[in-house]
Amino acid sequence: MADIRLEGVVKDYGSVRAIHGVDLHVADGQFVAFVGPSGCGKSTMLRMIAGLEEISGGTIRIGERVVNQVEPRGRDVAMVFQDYALYPHMSVRDNIGFGLKMRGFASADIERQVAEAAGILQISDYLDRKPGQLSGGQRQRVAMGRAIVRDPAAFLFDEPLSNLDAKLRVEMRTQIKRLHAMLGTTTIYVTHDQTEAMTLADRVVVLRDGYIVQEGPPMELYSRPSCRFVAEFIGSPQMNLFSGVLDRAGAVPRLQFADTSLEIGDIAAADGARIDVGIRPEHLLYAGDEPAQIEPVVEVYEPLGSDTMAICRLGGHELTARLAPEVDLHRDQRIGLRYDPSRLHYFDGTDGRRLEPA
Ligand SMILES: Nc1ncnc2c1ncn2[C@@H]1O[C@H](COP(=O)(O)OP(=O)(O)O)[C@@H](O)[C@H]1O
Ligand SMILES: [Mg+2]
Repeated sequence: MADIRLEGVVKDYGSVRAIHGVDLHVADGQFVAFVGPSGCGKSTMLRMIAGLEEISGGTIRIGERVVNQVEPRGRDVAMVFQDYALYPHMSVRDNIGFGLKMRGFASADIERQVAEAAGILQISDYLDRKPGQLSGGQRQRVAMGRAIVRDPAAFLFDEPLSNLDAKLRVEMRTQIKRLHAMLGTTTIYVTHDQTEAMTLADRVVVLRDGYIVQEGPPMELYSRPSCRFVAEFIGSPQMNLFSGVLDRAGAVPRLQFADTSLEIGDIAAADGARIDVGIRPEHLLYAGDEPAQIEPVVEVYEPLGSDTMAICRLGGHELTARLAPEVDLHRDQRIGLRYDPSRLHYFDGTDGRRLEPA
């Protein structure tokens, strides 16, 4: 086990800078997720840590050791990819044990370690099968088994569940979380799926265009996004956002947009400033008999059983409210909603950075 430290890490592909001087510390035993849209640099970051990609500047440490010049096999990390890269002609047993065999382990040792890994991953019954005789989820577990037997200082996962169907993805997610709880190995997990990042990681690192835009525990990112980009990226359904102009003329500040306005809290911004105001779908409440603060029109509603998503329109913006399943909804209905202004998020209308309430 080891911690991983990046200092001023840069990656240039020719004249194009893909990673812009990243500083990051992954503590020993921590589970960190790199998340962001396609092309933001997640795989590049992981591949530089694994040694599969040279760095153009900065320092990478694994444990006490600077590994900038160390070959991948000397870095003591195990990587798991989305395409499992199993040997098709070998049994599951041989696939898992192959690395140990290459390093000259005795066959009894290999047998014991393979059995142990297979037990953890619940694939003991498939050891004699070939990868072609397994489902996608089972194959992914074999790939993980191969990583486990190496007993590495760290696991590096690059979108390992992307090829699996939705149900299996959720199952494997739980399996990976259980694995980490059991082994406690330092883990970096790359995904474009914010739900995976949120549910798995102790700490989430959001990347955008080769920069870290925010990092922290999942709930911190959810409740205090540092900018509009993180606010929109983290959370499903997305945070509702309204772009408009701050109006201080009345008794309380309001956001004016299109032909409507929204009561907001006070923020450190001047009258007439362009701001974006956000609210999570679960913070919009059905007003019922109480006076409504906003009255959007229902376009579509999606009953999920536990709650119902009401997708509405308000002043040219789409808005999603997560309502109780008992609320009676129909299309084109004007629905009264309430919210607590302290639940609102504010962002600068120009650069998108978070604005704090005054
Ligand atoms: N081998 C390469 N040569 C040139 N550009 C690359 C190479 N690999 C990645 N890139 C570029 O670097 C950026 C980050 O890519 P990548 O790390 O694969 O993103 P992600 O994994 O987040 O989707 C992208 O703009 C991509 O086009
Ligand atoms: Mg990638």
